[in-house]
Amino acid sequence: ALAGARAAAAAMSVFVTRRIPPEGLRVLSQASGYRVRQWDSEEPVPRAELLSGVAGTRGLLCLLSDRIDREVLDAAGACGAPCSPRHPRALGTGPAAPIVLTGPDLKVISTLSVGFDHLALDEIKKRGIRVGYTPDVLTDATAELSVALLLAACRRLPEATEQVKSGGWTTWKPLWMCGYGLSDSTVGIIGLGRIGQAVARRLKPFGVRKFLYTGSGPKPESAAEFGAEFVPLTRLAEESDFVVVTCALTPATQGMCNKDFFGRMKKTSVFVNTSRGAVVNQEDLYEALAHGQIAAAGLDVTTPEPLPTDHPLLSLKNCVILPHIGSATYATRSTMAVLAANNLLAGLRGEPMPHELKL
Ligand code: NDP
Ligand code: DGY
Repeated sequence: ALAGARAAAAAMSVFVTRRIPPEGLRVLSQASGYRVRQWDSEEPVPRAELLSGVAGTRGLLCLLSDRIDREVLDAAGACGAPCSPRHPRALGTGPAAPIVLTGPDLKVISTLSVGFDHLALDEIKKRGIRVGYTPDVLTDATAELSVALLLAACRRLPEATEQVKSGGWTTWKPLWMCGYGLSDSTVGIIGLGRIGQAVARRLKPFGVRKFLYTGSGPKPESAAEFGAEFVPLTRLAEESDFVVVTCALTPATQGMCNKDFFGRMKKTSVFVNTSRGAVVNQEDLYEALAHGQIAAAGLDVTTPEPLPTDHPLLSLKNCVILPHIGSATYATRSTMAVLAANNLLAGLRGEPMPHELKL
Protein backbone atom coordinates (compact mmCIF):
# COMPACT_ATOMS: atom_id res chain seq x y z
CA ALA A 1 0.00 0.00 0.00
CA LEU A 2 2.91 2.29 0.80
CA ALA A 3 4.51 1.54 -2.57
CA GLY A 4 1.20 2.30 -4.26
CA ALA A 5 0.89 5.57 -2.39
CA ARG A 6 4.47 6.49 -3.33
CA ALA A 7 3.82 5.67 -6.99
CA ALA A 8 0.69 7.82 -6.95
CA ALA A 9 2.61 10.66 -5.36
CA ALA A 10 5.35 10.36 -7.99
CA ALA A 11 2.88 10.17 -10.86
CA MET A 12 2.69 13.13 -13.20
CA SER A 13 -0.58 14.93 -12.97
CA VAL A 14 -2.63 15.69 -16.05
CA PHE A 15 -5.81 17.75 -16.06
CA VAL A 16 -8.64 17.22 -18.55
CA THR A 17 -11.02 20.16 -18.69
CA ARG A 18 -14.21 18.36 -19.80
CA ARG A 19 -15.94 15.02 -20.20
CA ILE A 20 -14.49 13.74 -23.47
CA PRO A 21 -15.19 10.64 -25.57
CA PRO A 22 -14.26 7.61 -23.43
CA GLU A 23 -11.74 6.31 -25.98
CA GLY A 24 -9.55 9.34 -25.30
CA LEU A 25 -9.81 9.13 -21.55
CA ARG A 26 -8.97 5.42 -21.73
CA VAL A 27 -5.68 6.21 -23.49
CA LEU A 28 -4.74 8.49 -20.61
CA SER A 29 -5.90 6.27 -17.78
CA GLN A 30 -4.15 3.21 -19.23
CA ALA A 31 -0.81 4.99 -19.47
CA SER A 32 1.23 4.23 -16.41
CA GLY A 33 2.82 6.99 -14.38
CA TYR A 34 0.05 9.55 -14.81
CA ARG A 35 -2.58 10.75 -12.40
CA VAL A 36 -5.55 11.92 -14.42
CA ARG A 37 -7.79 14.59 -12.99
CA GLN A 38 -10.84 15.71 -14.91
CA TRP A 39 -13.63 18.26 -14.91
CA ASP A 40 -16.12 15.49 -15.58
CA SER A 41 -19.02 17.49 -16.96
CA GLU A 42 -20.68 18.31 -20.28
CA GLU A 43 -20.47 21.98 -19.28
CA PRO A 44 -17.31 24.10 -19.47
CA VAL A 45 -15.04 24.15 -16.48
CA PRO A 46 -15.67 27.36 -14.49
CA ARG A 47 -12.68 29.68 -14.60
CA ALA A 48 -11.94 29.25 -10.88
CA GLU A 49 -11.97 25.46 -11.24
CA LEU A 50 -9.70 25.70 -14.26
CA LEU A 51 -7.23 27.83 -12.34
CA SER A 52 -7.18 25.44 -9.40
CA GLY A 53 -7.28 22.37 -11.67
CA VAL A 54 -4.11 23.33 -13.55
CA ALA A 55 -2.12 24.05 -10.41
CA GLY A 56 0.81 21.69 -10.30
CA THR A 57 -0.21 19.82 -13.43
CA ARG A 58 2.30 18.73 -16.08
CA GLY A 59 -0.17 18.17 -18.88
CA LEU A 60 -3.38 19.94 -19.81
CA LEU A 61 -5.98 18.55 -22.20
CA CYS A 62 -8.26 21.46 -23.00
CA LEU A 63 -11.06 22.50 -25.33
CA LEU A 64 -11.61 25.46 -27.62
CA SER A 65 -13.92 26.95 -24.97
CA ASP A 66 -11.05 27.19 -22.44
CA ARG A 67 -9.09 30.43 -22.74
CA ILE A 68 -5.53 29.44 -21.94
CA ASP A 69 -3.84 32.73 -21.17
CA ARG A 70 -1.16 34.12 -18.89
CA GLU A 71 -3.39 33.76 -15.83
CA VAL A 72 -3.91 30.04 -16.44
CA LEU A 73 -0.23 29.50 -17.18
CA ASP A 74 0.73 31.32 -14.00
CA ALA A 75 -1.75 29.23 -12.03
CA ALA A 76 -0.23 26.11 -13.55
CA GLY A 77 3.18 27.21 -12.33
CA ALA A 78 4.55 27.26 -15.86
CA CYS A 79 7.51 29.59 -15.62
CA GLY A 80 9.34 28.78 -18.87
CA ALA A 81 12.57 30.26 -20.07
CA PRO A 82 13.95 32.60 -19.04
CA CYS A 83 12.62 31.77 -15.60
CA SER A 84 12.24 34.31 -12.89
CA PRO A 85 15.03 33.58 -10.42
CA ARG A 86 12.48 34.19 -7.67
CA HIS A 87 10.34 31.37 -8.95
CA PRO A 88 10.53 28.58 -6.40
CA ARG A 89 10.82 25.92 -9.07
CA ALA A 90 13.62 27.56 -10.97
CA LEU A 91 17.13 26.55 -10.09
CA GLY A 92 19.94 28.80 -11.22
CA THR A 93 20.87 32.23 -10.03
CA GLY A 94 22.33 34.49 -12.70
CA PRO A 95 21.53 35.14 -16.34
CA ALA A 96 24.30 32.75 -17.39
CA ALA A 97 23.23 29.94 -15.10
CA PRO A 98 21.37 27.05 -16.71
CA ILE A 99 17.70 26.92 -15.95
CA VAL A 100 16.54 23.58 -14.63
CA LEU A 101 12.89 23.04 -13.94
CA THR A 102 12.29 20.50 -11.23
CA GLY A 103 8.81 21.32 -10.06
CA PRO A 104 5.45 20.27 -11.40
CA ASP A 105 5.35 22.97 -14.11
CA LEU A 106 3.05 22.68 -17.05
CA LYS A 107 4.96 21.14 -19.95
CA VAL A 108 2.32 20.20 -22.51
CA ILE A 109 -1.01 21.58 -23.67
CA SER A 110 -3.11 19.38 -25.90
CA THR A 111 -6.22 20.91 -27.37
CA LEU A 112 -9.15 18.87 -28.60
CA SER A 113 -9.43 21.02 -31.72
CA VAL A 114 -7.60 22.05 -34.84
CA GLY A 115 -8.27 25.72 -34.08
CA PHE A 116 -5.88 27.24 -31.55
CA ASP A 117 -7.07 30.85 -31.28
CA HIS A 118 -8.02 30.18 -27.63
CA LEU A 119 -4.37 29.63 -26.75
CA ALA A 120 -2.03 32.53 -25.91
CA LEU A 121 0.71 31.13 -28.12
CA ASP A 122 3.29 33.86 -27.50
CA GLU A 123 3.09 33.32 -23.76
CA ILE A 124 3.04 29.53 -24.17
CA LYS A 125 6.11 29.63 -26.40
CA LYS A 126 7.96 31.90 -23.99
CA ARG A 127 7.43 29.33 -21.26
CA GLY A 128 8.70 26.45 -23.38
CA ILE A 129 5.40 24.58 -23.34
CA ARG A 130 4.65 22.19 -26.20
CA VAL A 131 1.23 22.23 -27.89
CA GLY A 132 -0.66 19.41 -29.57
CA TYR A 133 -3.79 19.83 -31.74
CA THR A 134 -6.06 17.75 -33.96
CA PRO A 135 -5.72 18.60 -37.67
CA ASP A 136 -6.81 16.26 -40.53
CA VAL A 137 -8.96 13.89 -38.48
CA LEU A 138 -11.88 16.36 -38.49
CA THR A 139 -11.46 17.71 -42.00
CA ASP A 140 -14.03 15.41 -43.67
CA ALA A 141 -16.67 15.88 -40.98
CA THR A 142 -16.29 19.66 -41.00
CA ALA A 143 -16.32 19.92 -44.78
CA GLU A 144 -19.42 17.74 -44.91
CA LEU A 145 -21.17 19.98 -42.37
CA SER A 146 -20.10 23.08 -44.32
CA VAL A 147 -21.77 21.70 -47.43
CA ALA A 148 -24.89 20.73 -45.46
CA LEU A 149 -25.08 24.24 -44.02
CA LEU A 150 -24.55 25.84 -47.42
CA LEU A 151 -27.38 23.79 -48.91
CA ALA A 152 -29.63 24.44 -45.91
CA ALA A 153 -29.10 28.19 -46.32
CA CYS A 154 -29.33 28.47 -50.11
CA ARG A 155 -32.32 26.10 -50.46
CA ARG A 156 -33.99 27.47 -47.31
CA LEU A 157 -34.41 24.09 -45.61
CA PRO A 158 -35.20 25.21 -42.02
CA GLU A 159 -37.72 27.75 -43.33
CA ALA A 160 -39.32 25.10 -45.54
CA THR A 161 -39.64 22.47 -42.79
CA GLU A 162 -41.15 25.12 -40.56
CA GLN A 163 -43.80 25.81 -43.22
CA VAL A 164 -44.71 22.12 -43.29
CA LYS A 165 -45.17 22.07 -39.51
CA SER A 166 -47.09 25.34 -39.31
CA GLY A 167 -49.56 24.65 -42.12
CA GLY A 168 -47.95 27.13 -44.50
CA TRP A 169 -47.74 24.37 -47.12
CA THR A 170 -51.12 24.76 -48.83
CA THR A 171 -50.29 23.54 -52.34
CA TRP A 172 -47.38 23.30 -54.79
CA LYS A 173 -46.67 26.88 -55.81
CA PRO A 174 -44.34 27.85 -58.66
CA LEU A 175 -42.97 30.93 -56.93
CA TRP A 176 -42.82 29.63 -53.38
CA MET A 177 -39.72 28.68 -51.36
CA CYS A 178 -37.29 29.27 -54.21
CA GLY A 179 -33.62 29.63 -53.44
CA TYR A 180 -30.27 29.53 -55.19
CA GLY A 181 -28.46 26.45 -56.55
CA LEU A 182 -24.81 25.59 -57.05
CA SER A 183 -25.07 24.66 -60.70
CA ASP A 184 -22.99 27.01 -62.88
CA SER A 185 -22.09 29.10 -59.83
CA THR A 186 -18.91 30.78 -58.60
CA VAL A 187 -17.77 29.69 -55.15
CA GLY A 188 -15.29 31.79 -53.17
CA ILE A 189 -13.34 30.08 -50.41
CA ILE A 190 -11.71 32.22 -47.73
CA GLY A 191 -8.81 30.04 -46.55
CA LEU A 192 -8.02 27.19 -48.94
CA GLY A 193 -6.50 25.04 -46.20
CA ARG A 194 -7.36 21.46 -45.26
CA ILE A 195 -11.07 22.15 -44.70
CA GLY A 196 -11.36 24.72 -47.51
CA GLN A 197 -10.00 22.21 -50.03
CA ALA A 198 -12.25 19.45 -48.68
CA VAL A 199 -15.25 21.76 -49.12
CA ALA A 200 -14.25 22.59 -52.71
CA ARG A 201 -13.77 18.87 -53.46
CA ARG A 202 -17.32 18.18 -52.27
CA LEU A 203 -18.90 21.16 -54.03
CA LYS A 204 -17.27 20.59 -57.43
CA PRO A 205 -19.60 17.71 -58.43
CA PHE A 206 -22.61 19.99 -57.88
CA GLY A 207 -21.65 21.75 -61.10
CA VAL A 208 -19.72 24.73 -59.74
CA ARG A 209 -18.34 26.66 -62.73
CA LYS A 210 -15.53 28.55 -61.02
CA PHE A 211 -13.67 28.51 -57.70
CA LEU A 212 -12.00 31.61 -56.29
CA TYR A 213 -9.96 31.68 -53.11
CA THR A 214 -8.07 34.08 -50.92
CA GLY A 215 -5.48 33.72 -48.19
CA SER A 216 -2.04 34.94 -47.27
CA GLY A 217 -0.76 34.02 -50.74
CA PRO A 218 -1.46 31.85 -53.79
CA LYS A 219 -1.28 28.07 -53.27
CA PRO A 220 -1.04 26.75 -56.82
CA GLU A 221 -0.59 23.12 -55.76
CA SER A 222 -3.71 23.09 -53.60
CA ALA A 223 -5.70 25.15 -56.10
CA ALA A 224 -4.86 23.05 -59.17
CA GLU A 225 -7.38 20.30 -58.34
CA PHE A 226 -10.24 22.81 -58.61
CA GLY A 227 -8.71 25.22 -61.14
CA ALA A 228 -9.21 27.76 -58.35
CA GLU A 229 -8.04 31.33 -58.90
CA PHE A 230 -6.30 33.34 -56.16
CA VAL A 231 -7.96 36.75 -55.83
CA PRO A 232 -8.04 39.61 -53.33
CA LEU A 233 -10.82 39.48 -50.74
CA THR A 234 -12.71 42.32 -52.44
CA ARG A 235 -12.90 40.50 -55.77
CA LEU A 236 -13.92 37.28 -54.05
CA ALA A 237 -16.81 39.15 -52.41
CA GLU A 238 -17.89 40.79 -55.66
CA GLU A 239 -17.82 37.71 -57.89
CA SER A 240 -18.85 34.80 -55.69
CA ASP A 241 -22.37 33.38 -55.61
CA PHE A 242 -21.37 31.46 -52.50
CA VAL A 243 -18.73 32.54 -50.00
CA VAL A 244 -17.42 29.85 -47.66
CA VAL A 245 -15.18 30.91 -44.76
CA THR A 246 -12.77 28.18 -43.68
CA CYS A 247 -9.75 30.20 -42.52
CA ALA A 248 -8.14 30.27 -39.11
CA LEU A 249 -8.99 33.11 -36.73
CA THR A 250 -5.94 35.38 -36.53
CA PRO A 251 -5.45 39.12 -36.00
CA ALA A 252 -5.52 39.43 -39.80
CA THR A 253 -8.80 37.56 -40.26
CA GLN A 254 -10.65 38.96 -37.23
CA GLY A 255 -13.65 41.00 -38.41
CA MET A 256 -12.60 40.46 -42.04
CA CYS A 257 -16.17 39.90 -43.22
CA ASN A 258 -17.56 43.34 -42.47
CA LYS A 259 -19.80 46.06 -43.89
CA ASP A 260 -17.47 46.69 -46.82
CA PHE A 261 -17.25 42.96 -47.57
CA PHE A 262 -21.02 42.34 -47.43
CA GLY A 263 -21.62 45.56 -49.36
CA ARG A 264 -19.58 44.14 -52.22
CA MET A 265 -21.42 40.82 -52.30
CA LYS A 266 -24.27 40.26 -54.75
CA LYS A 267 -27.86 40.45 -53.52
CA THR A 268 -28.29 36.86 -54.64
CA SER A 269 -25.21 35.50 -52.85
CA VAL A 270 -25.02 33.20 -49.85
CA PHE A 271 -22.47 33.48 -47.05
CA VAL A 272 -21.32 30.47 -44.99
CA ASN A 273 -18.96 30.49 -42.01
CA THR A 274 -17.61 27.33 -40.39
CA SER A 275 -14.33 28.78 -39.10
CA ARG A 276 -14.70 31.06 -36.07
CA GLY A 277 -17.41 33.59 -35.26
CA ALA A 278 -14.97 36.45 -34.80
CA VAL A 279 -13.99 36.41 -38.48
CA VAL A 280 -17.38 38.03 -39.06
CA ASN A 281 -18.67 41.39 -37.87
CA GLN A 282 -22.09 40.13 -36.83
CA GLU A 283 -23.76 43.56 -36.71
CA ASP A 284 -22.70 44.13 -40.31
CA LEU A 285 -23.91 40.65 -41.28
CA TYR A 286 -27.27 41.32 -39.62
CA GLU A 287 -27.68 44.58 -41.57
CA ALA A 288 -26.75 42.88 -44.84
CA LEU A 289 -29.24 40.04 -44.29
CA ALA A 290 -32.03 42.23 -42.95
CA HIS A 291 -31.78 44.73 -45.80
CA GLY A 292 -31.41 42.21 -48.60
CA GLN A 293 -27.80 43.12 -49.43
CA ILE A 294 -27.10 39.38 -49.51
CA ALA A 295 -29.55 36.49 -49.90
CA ALA A 296 -28.79 34.24 -46.95
CA ALA A 297 -26.20 33.07 -44.47
CA GLY A 298 -25.29 29.83 -42.73
CA LEU A 299 -23.23 30.03 -39.55
CA ASP A 300 -21.83 27.14 -37.55
CA VAL A 301 -19.83 29.52 -35.39
CA THR A 302 -20.81 32.80 -33.73
CA THR A 303 -19.72 35.38 -31.20
CA PRO A 304 -20.38 34.60 -28.45
CA GLU A 305 -21.00 30.88 -28.24
CA PRO A 306 -23.67 30.02 -27.40
CA LEU A 307 -25.44 32.85 -29.19
CA PRO A 308 -28.04 34.38 -26.81
CA THR A 309 -31.50 33.19 -27.80
CA ASP A 310 -32.67 36.80 -28.21
CA HIS A 311 -29.85 37.69 -30.62
CA PRO A 312 -31.14 39.66 -33.66
CA LEU A 313 -29.58 37.17 -36.10
CA LEU A 314 -31.98 34.51 -34.78
CA SER A 315 -34.96 36.60 -35.82
CA LEU A 316 -34.01 36.36 -39.50
CA LYS A 317 -35.52 33.71 -41.76
CA ASN A 318 -32.57 33.91 -44.11
CA CYS A 319 -29.96 33.03 -41.48
CA VAL A 320 -29.36 29.40 -40.54
CA ILE A 321 -27.40 29.01 -37.31
CA LEU A 322 -25.94 25.79 -35.96
CA PRO A 323 -24.30 25.28 -32.55
CA HIS A 324 -20.68 24.71 -33.67
CA ILE A 325 -21.15 21.10 -34.78
CA GLY A 326 -18.67 20.99 -37.67
CA SER A 327 -16.69 18.04 -36.33
CA ALA A 328 -19.61 16.42 -34.50
CA THR A 329 -19.74 12.88 -35.79
CA TYR A 330 -19.28 10.10 -33.23
CA ALA A 331 -16.29 8.69 -35.09
CA THR A 332 -14.57 12.05 -35.54
CA ARG A 333 -14.97 13.14 -31.94
CA SER A 334 -13.67 9.79 -30.74
CA THR A 335 -10.65 10.00 -33.06
CA MET A 336 -10.00 13.59 -31.95
CA ALA A 337 -10.04 12.51 -28.30
CA VAL A 338 -7.59 9.67 -28.90
CA LEU A 339 -5.31 11.95 -30.89
CA ALA A 340 -5.44 14.64 -28.19
CA ALA A 341 -4.60 12.06 -25.53
CA ASN A 342 -1.72 10.66 -27.57
CA ASN A 343 -0.40 14.17 -28.26
CA LEU A 344 -0.40 14.84 -24.54
CA LEU A 345 1.36 11.62 -23.59
CA ALA A 346 3.98 11.93 -26.33
CA GLY A 347 4.71 15.48 -25.23
CA LEU A 348 5.06 14.46 -21.60
CA ARG A 349 7.42 11.64 -22.57
CA GLY A 350 9.53 14.05 -24.57
CA GLU A 351 8.69 12.21 -27.79
CA PRO A 352 7.49 13.60 -31.12
CA MET A 353 3.75 14.22 -30.93
CA PRO A 354 1.43 12.76 -33.60
CA HIS A 355 0.39 16.39 -34.29
CA GLU A 356 2.43 19.14 -32.68
CA LEU A 357 1.85 22.80 -33.38
CA LYS A 358 5.10 24.41 -34.44
CA LEU A 359 5.50 27.49 -32.27
P1 NDP B 1 -5.64 25.12 -42.13
O1 NDP B 1 -4.52 25.67 -41.37
O2 NDP B 1 -5.40 23.95 -43.03
O3 NDP B 1 -6.33 26.26 -43.00
C1 NDP B 1 -6.45 27.55 -42.51
C2 NDP B 1 -6.49 28.46 -43.68
O4 NDP B 1 -6.65 29.79 -43.18
C3 NDP B 1 -5.21 28.44 -44.51
O5 NDP B 1 -5.50 28.04 -45.80
C4 NDP B 1 -4.76 29.89 -44.48
O6 NDP B 1 -4.35 30.31 -45.74
C5 NDP B 1 -6.05 30.60 -44.15
N1 NDP B 1 -5.73 31.97 -43.77
C6 NDP B 1 -4.80 32.40 -42.89
N2 NDP B 1 -4.75 33.74 -42.91
C7 NDP B 1 -5.66 34.14 -43.82
C8 NDP B 1 -6.09 35.40 -44.29
N3 NDP B 1 -5.55 36.53 -43.81
N4 NDP B 1 -7.06 35.44 -45.22
C9 NDP B 1 -7.62 34.32 -45.68
N5 NDP B 1 -7.26 33.09 -45.29
C10 NDP B 1 -6.29 33.01 -44.35
O7 NDP B 1 -6.77 24.76 -41.05
P2 NDP B 1 -8.05 23.82 -41.21
O8 NDP B 1 -8.56 23.92 -42.59
O9 NDP B 1 -7.76 22.49 -40.66
O10 NDP B 1 -9.05 24.56 -40.20
C11 NDP B 1 -9.43 25.89 -40.44
C12 NDP B 1 -10.21 26.46 -39.29
O11 NDP B 1 -11.51 25.90 -39.25
C13 NDP B 1 -9.67 26.17 -37.90
O12 NDP B 1 -8.65 27.09 -37.56
C14 NDP B 1 -10.88 26.31 -37.02
O13 NDP B 1 -10.98 27.63 -36.56
C15 NDP B 1 -12.04 26.01 -37.95
N6 NDP B 1 -12.72 24.77 -37.64
C16 NDP B 1 -14.05 24.82 -37.30
C17 NDP B 1 -14.74 23.66 -37.06
C18 NDP B 1 -16.17 23.70 -36.71
O14 NDP B 1 -16.62 22.86 -35.95
N7 NDP B 1 -16.93 24.63 -37.24
C19 NDP B 1 -14.11 22.34 -37.11
C20 NDP B 1 -12.71 22.42 -37.48
C21 NDP B 1 -12.06 23.60 -37.72
P3 NDP B 1 -2.79 30.53 -46.04
O15 NDP B 1 -2.21 29.14 -46.03
O16 NDP B 1 -2.78 31.19 -47.34
O17 NDP B 1 -2.26 31.37 -44.92
C1 DGY C 1 -11.90 22.88 -34.10
O1 DGY C 1 -11.39 21.75 -34.04
O2 DGY C 1 -11.22 23.91 -34.16
C2 DGY C 1 -13.39 22.98 -34.12
O3 DGY C 1 -13.87 24.23 -33.97
C3 DGY C 1 -14.11 21.97 -33.33
O4 DGY C 1 -13.83 20.71 -33.80
